[in-house]
Amino acid sequence: MYGLIFMGLKKYIDANLGANKWNNLLTNSGIGSKIYSYNSEYQDQEAVALVSMVSKLTGKTVPAVLEEFGEFITPELFNMYRLLIKPEWRTLDLIEHTEETIHKTVRMKNPGAKPPELKVSRLNPNEVVITYSSQRKMCGIAKGIAKGVAKHYREQLSIVEPSCMLRGDANCKISIKVAK
Ligand code: HEM
Repeated sequence: MYGLIFMGLKKYIDANLGANKWNNLLTNSGIGSKIYSYNSEYQDQEAVALVSMVSKLTGKTVPAVLEEFGEFITPELFNMYRLLIKPEWRTLDLIEHTEETIHKTVRMKNPGAKPPELKVSRLNPNEVVITYSSQRKMCGIAKGIAKGVAKHYREQLSIVEPSCMLRGDANCKISIKVAK
């Protein structure tokens, strides 16, 4: 995964577990002492190990930690890529256009970043369905980012996931409705 994600994980861990926990977590998850840099690519396994440690320490499930982390990191994604975000967009517009506008540009500009390919259907003005099938199986991050985007636009969402790779399905279908 991209260095940005690890730097975000450090900030999330500092904010939620205390600023002194990061080095212990690196050691206890078998990574050892390491400094991540924003623009480099690292093994997915390291992010999985760190998130599993957070899960053990907090009693939250791994998908719940990923979801919290996704929401936590969204303001940073907005800041770094704000030029890609159209001023007229709201939550569902941004999600609808993430693949062809945002993730595509992120992939082009940062070869170390491999954001997932999202398929998004806009069923009606108030509902999208995301089909997510990344082998990383981090649909929690998608749900968390969706929540973070809604927080940014001060909108209320309801999110359900009728199919999920973590339950053995071929892909995750994440249905997101905005309250009007
Ligand atoms: C401002 C908007 C966004 C930006 C700049 C952005 C950028 C990124 C970047 C840089 C990564 C890391 C890729 C890597 O580690 O190789 C990522 C991962 C991810 N993004 Fe986005 N993203 C945005 C919005 C969204 C939205 C709206 C969703 C879905 C609701 C989403 C879903 C994901 C997921 C699930 C991952 C990580 C898991 C995986 O790779 O399977 N992103 N994104």
